[in-house]
Amino acid sequence: MAPGSAASTARNAGHETVAGENSGTGSLNSGRSTIDLAEVEKFAAMADSWWDPAGKFRPLHRLNPVRVGYIRDKACAHFGSDPADPQPLAGLSLIDIGCGGGLLSEPMARLGATVTGVDATPRNVEVARLHAEQTGVKLTYLNCAAEDLVAQGKQFDIVLAMEIIEHVADVDAFLAACGKLMKPGGLLFLATMSRTVKSYAMAIVGAEYVMRWLPKGTHDWNRFIRPSEMARGLRHHGLQIAELTGVSYNPLKDSFRLSRDLDVNYMALAKASA
Ligand SMILES: C[S@@+](CC[C@H](N)C(=O)[O-])C[C@H]1O[C@@H](n2cnc3c(N)ncnc32)[C@H](O)[C@@H]1O
Repeated sequence: MAPGSAASTARNAGHETVAGENSGTGSLNSGRSTIDLAEVEKFAAMADSWWDPAGKFRPLHRLNPVRVGYIRDKACAHFGSDPADPQPLAGLSLIDIGCGGGLLSEPMARLGATVTGVDATPRNVEVARLHAEQTGVKLTYLNCAAEDLVAQGKQFDIVLAMEIIEHVADVDAFLAACGKLMKPGGLLFLATMSRTVKSYAMAIVGAEYVMRWLPKGTHDWNRFIRPSEMARGLRHHGLQIAELTGVSYNPLKDSFRLSRDLDVNYMALAKASA
């Protein structure tokens, strides 16, 4: 679906935003909500599995090493720090939009970033907070959407929107919020799946029906976004994609690696002008 299409906007029509820091009620912004309540319910039903590496979020656990390394290296190159440093992101603020159980938020905080993880699903935030308490990682989790932090005028050096855009109610409003959350000179990382025959075969048939990694219906292929659509959507908000990187799965090694193949999983990196 094209970003900002009428159909994508309609998904959330008539629903109140789940918003407000930690509250899960009311709305702090008057703009379009990015929250699709059906998606929130879907994630709430799976929330207790976040930290099970063999559970419903297995693909994200398998993705983590490659995406953490990618974000670290790109951020270090951009902000001028040494990726070999144990805390190369120290001094940088980072928002993880749609943080889920915190699979990415925690490693980012370990790399030294001052992390705020936000998620529309209240149970995810509870799970994320509990896990951080257990691991002793210091970061902030909020039950809200990106647009709520925009309404508060918050901005960050690094904005992460990983594997979320295919779950939002309004792609155009979501990209607008991502852009507004970037500090001048900041970075935006987006990860999603492209809408191709190959992604249908791998992400829907393979992951949900054959391997049964994910519950059936976790992903709606029609909501996957092609890189060209992502680029157009970002341009609409004054952002250019600086880099596109494919992330390919090797079934023999059961691992992901960076690649040039943008047909299934890919990441887009955009830079805000300074
Ligand atoms: C597939 S999970 C990705 C989790 C995490 N980003 C990762 O890659 O490990 C998508 C998450 O986005 C959240 N979500 C969906 N729509 C949202 C919205 N509009 N605002 C904030 N969170 C949202 C869901 O609750 C879910 O936790």
